[in-house]
Amino acid sequence: MGFPHLLSLWSMTAIFLVINFTVGDAATCSDCFTHSRAAYYPDSDEKGTETGACGFGTFGATINGGDVSAASDLYRDGVGCGACYQVKCSNSNLCSDKGVTVVITDNGASDRTDFILSRRAFGRMAQTTDDAASLLALGVVDIDYRHASCSYPDKNITIKIDENSNYPNYLAFVIWYQQGKKDITAVQLCETQNFGCKLLDRSHGAVWTTTSPPIGPLSIRMLFSDDDGETWVVPVNDIPQDWKAGNTYDSGVQVNV
Ligand SMILES: *[C@@H]1O[C@H](CO)[C@@H](O)[C@H](O)[C@H]1NC(C)=O
Repeated sequence: MGFPHLLSLWSMTAIFLVINFTVGDAATCSDCFTHSRAAYYPDSDEKGTETGACGFGTFGATINGGDVSAASDLYRDGVGCGACYQVKCSNSNLCSDKGVTVVITDNGASDRTDFILSRRAFGRMAQTTDDAASLLALGVVDIDYRHASCSYPDKNITIKIDENSNYPNYLAFVIWYQQGKKDITAVQLCETQNFGCKLLDRSHGAVWTTTSPPIGPLSIRMLFSDDDGETWVVPVNDIPQDWKAGNTYDSGVQVNV
């Protein structure tokens, strides 16, 4: 007697679940792939470029094993620096399902592309070494891409003082090893003794600068933003009072992927 009732209850639950999943998918379409095109750096080494517009320096060539890219629109006036994207090419004979995950370290476009990959990253979209050679011969390929989480196991967020800094009058730095999918949309430089804070300017790419930085150990606070909101991340470690151009300082914090 109860059996048919149970069955219909079960199918109603199933329908409910299907509806739920459909709504869920629509809401998380940041996970969807977008169709576009990608090229690779001409005349480049395997890895990326040390002169990328983000201002990362050598880090911009070697981070993520050299799987890096220039972005055109996704560069977003520098906000896109350090963001990660999964990029896979479309030719099913040559291309792997997974593609490659790259970090944006430069700005550029070529022949309606969203990405100009390092040679290494471009080749890594292929299934085999031979396929990589065929891809490279094509020069520009159709791709699908989506925003991905950056992952740097065993790294904390690190502050690299730019070589153009001039102690103690001019401080410029970039932020390395930011995990996850959020953007750093603002940075505050705070005194650790009387807690005055100063909002910094993004001078270009990923480079934050200030003239006349406060004297004393400094705390660099970062505003992490995405569509769900904003969070200030306060580092555990301070930048020492005698900071030096070219040095890197471990913030002692990392954000979860
Ligand atoms: C990250 O910072 C914490 C302190 O907050 C430290 O214990 C840890 O060793 C650091 N990790 C790395 C990989 O340096």
